[in-house]
Amino acid sequence: MVSNMDIGRAMTIRLDPSLPEMPDFAPGIRRAPDRGFRLTEAQVKAALKNALRYVPEEHHEGLAPEFLEELKTRGRIYAYRYRPPGRIYARPIEQYKGNCIAGKAFQVMIENNLDFEVALYPYELVTYGETGSVCQNWLQYRLIKQYLEALTEEQTLVVMSGHPLGLFPSPFEAPRVIITNGLMVGLYDNHEDWEIAAQMGVSSYGQMTAGGWMYIGPQGIVHGTFNTLLSAGRLKLQIPADGDLGGRLFISSGLGGMSGAQPKAVEIAGGVGVIAEVDGSRIQTRLDQGWVNRATADLDEAFSLAGEAIVSKEPLSIAYHGNVVDLLEHAVSRDIKVDLLSDQTSCHAPYDGGYCPQGLSFEDRTSMLSKDRNRFKEFVDRSLRRHFELIRTLVGRGSYFFDYGNSFMKAVFDAGVKEISRNGHDEKEGFIWPSYVEEIMGPELFDYGYGPFRWVCLSGKSEDLVKTDRAAMFSIDPDRRGQDRDNYIWVRDAHKHNLVVGSQARILYQDAAGRVRIALKFNKMVRRGEIGPVMIGRDHHDVSGTDSPFRETANIRDGSNVTADMAVHCFAGNAARGMSLVALHNGGGVGIGKAINGGFGLVLDGSKEVDEIIKSALLWDVTCGVARRAWARNENSLSAGIDFNREYKGAGQMTLPYAVDEGLIDRVTEHQALLSSVPESERG
Ligand SMILES: NC(=O)c1ccc[n+]([C@@H]2O[C@H](COP(=O)([O-])OP(=O)(O)OC[C@H]3O[C@@H](n4cnc5c(N)ncnc54)[C@H](O)[C@@H]3O)[C@@H](O)[C@H]2O)c1
Repeated sequence: MVSNMDIGRAMTIRLDPSLPEMPDFAPGIRRAPDRGFRLTEAQVKAALKNALRYVPEEHHEGLAPEFLEELKTRGRIYAYRYRPPGRIYARPIEQYKGNCIAGKAFQVMIENNLDFEVALYPYELVTYGETGSVCQNWLQYRLIKQYLEALTEEQTLVVMSGHPLGLFPSPFEAPRVIITNGLMVGLYDNHEDWEIAAQMGVSSYGQMTAGGWMYIGPQGIVHGTFNTLLSAGRLKLQIPADGDLGGRLFISSGLGGMSGAQPKAVEIAGGVGVIAEVDGSRIQTRLDQGWVNRATADLDEAFSLAGEAIVSKEPLSIAYHGNVVDLLEHAVSRDIKVDLLSDQTSCHAPYDGGYCPQGLSFEDRTSMLSKDRNRFKEFVDRSLRRHFELIRTLVGRGSYFFDYGNSFMKAVFDAGVKEISRNGHDEKEGFIWPSYVEEIMGPELFDYGYGPFRWVCLSGKSEDLVKTDRAAMFSIDPDRRGQDRDNYIWVRDAHKHNLVVGSQARILYQDAAGRVRIALKFNKMVRRGEIGPVMIGRDHHDVSGTDSPFRETANIRDGSNVTADMAVHCFAGNAARGMSLVALHNGGGVGIGKAINGGFGLVLDGSKEVDEIIKSALLWDVTCGVARRAWARNENSLSAGIDFNREYKGAGQMTLPYAVDEGLIDRVTEHQALLSSVPESERG
């Protein structure tokens, strides 16, 4: 029988054998709500053993009751005691220990995700999106960090749902880190079964860049939100190509991790936004960061401020401290003209605290969640139904509503509003209102290959960011397409808009060719010593990264929107081509079982080898999705595919679909319908 002594001796990399002191919890830092304790006795025993297996035996007796208490009161074992005391944040790369640049670089990335300034619930390792976690607990965090310090260029760290499985020998060309999060076997691929696995400490919700270690604060979504709002204005409000949202009103909700980008984006787009937020602390954070301009708990004041800005065509963002459903009640009863309307509550997890129901304050929501989850669910369902009614009224009066990637319409459907689905009985044919991907981001951006490329200057120097901004700007031809013009203006003005929260990072929508061009330029700058090393990556919410009929692939209409082959191929192809980190997750922004999504990180160290990875992997990372979208007959991908086949003739080719005459299909199916209406006995 193997003893614990043998186990301890068999590992050179392991947690420090001394028991850390329980750290103080800094006042004013948001804490995750109790996730609800629902394990059977056998599952509780397994959960305790699962957490204790990271720790030498001499501490088990002391830690077992402490971990049980955490499980019962918070619905998870976070192992708070193992959180290193003090502030965790992205420091300059040279301050980290490590045997290779990637090992140090990923410590920068992880610590940024856990920064008090950046993370939603830093003590519970949640970066954003209510439940999006770096890993499950502080035991895993400590071990991951030790592995990253030890990692060499001939090893790969494997992380399964936050658990570092170990360091394994691998060639120099292989990824240094491979991550999966929340992947479930099909039969159990639903929120309920996943929740049990999470409570038992064997699965983690990585969202996208939380568990993929590539989060860059709310800036990560500002550019996409800015593009979405401007494009919505052009498509639905007849705003000219060179115009902005001056004098137009946008209403939405949420000032959290991602949603907090909305006020900044609407202001950059020149419009007026009123954003409801139930949690006062999140409003304060955004006010302190300069991401929202004004705040009030008075609806009349909110709309009078908005009204003045609309008349003067001045950009303005206003946080309304209260429930979005109350805000909409007010807009409907006062007949206020709302141009653009959306929602960004965490509706991918409405019953876990992501959606605060009308009639409950934020504090009441937190307390009811821990005391009576069934009653909480009734409140949520009732509120979502009312929310739906109000949106329907506003749409009837001319507002353009779009689902903003938070599974809002799915949540309304699950709350019992069957009429929100197009076919009235399930979600397979989508919902009565478009998602932003269906009408805006899909056709206008993803289909061409434009997506949320990003980079982090690992030196931590803001001057490096300024240099990279300029280099990126000069890589864009603003006269090629409208999208290029928007991107050019975005990066030209990015520094002025003061977007950095946490690490020195930038988001910039780019297509495949643009990403390759910019990355090669950055790598050359690193080689010449003009800047320190750079991490490039992207949001999983991208052209090829995510399969989700509820979001990223909502504008794919050949029936393959329910498949997840693309995201998995993108991940595998990136690993094969030598990205430094590859990640594959379940859930993302819409919830377990509703999306498979992946991302990557590539460390630009200035080497020629990295130039080659950029040319093959970065190209693959985008063209995989363009090829799939083209095969689904998406018009703009077809033209991007033809361009690709011309440019890469002899080196690569996408399979492109022949168009089929609709009239022919109608005639054949009519004939078929006619045949089936004739009784078999009468057929010739
Ligand atoms: N569109 C995208 O590209 C995109 C990207 C990432 C995430 N998302 C999705 O958007 C949602 C929001 O993400 P996040 O990171 O901001 O989450 P978050 O949980 O940090 O923020 C949501 C905010 O909504 C507030 N809220 C909840 N119910 C409310 C109500 N009824 N009225 C007013 N405020 C309410 C919460 O207090 C919270 O601050 C998630 O579902 C996420 O998956 C979308």
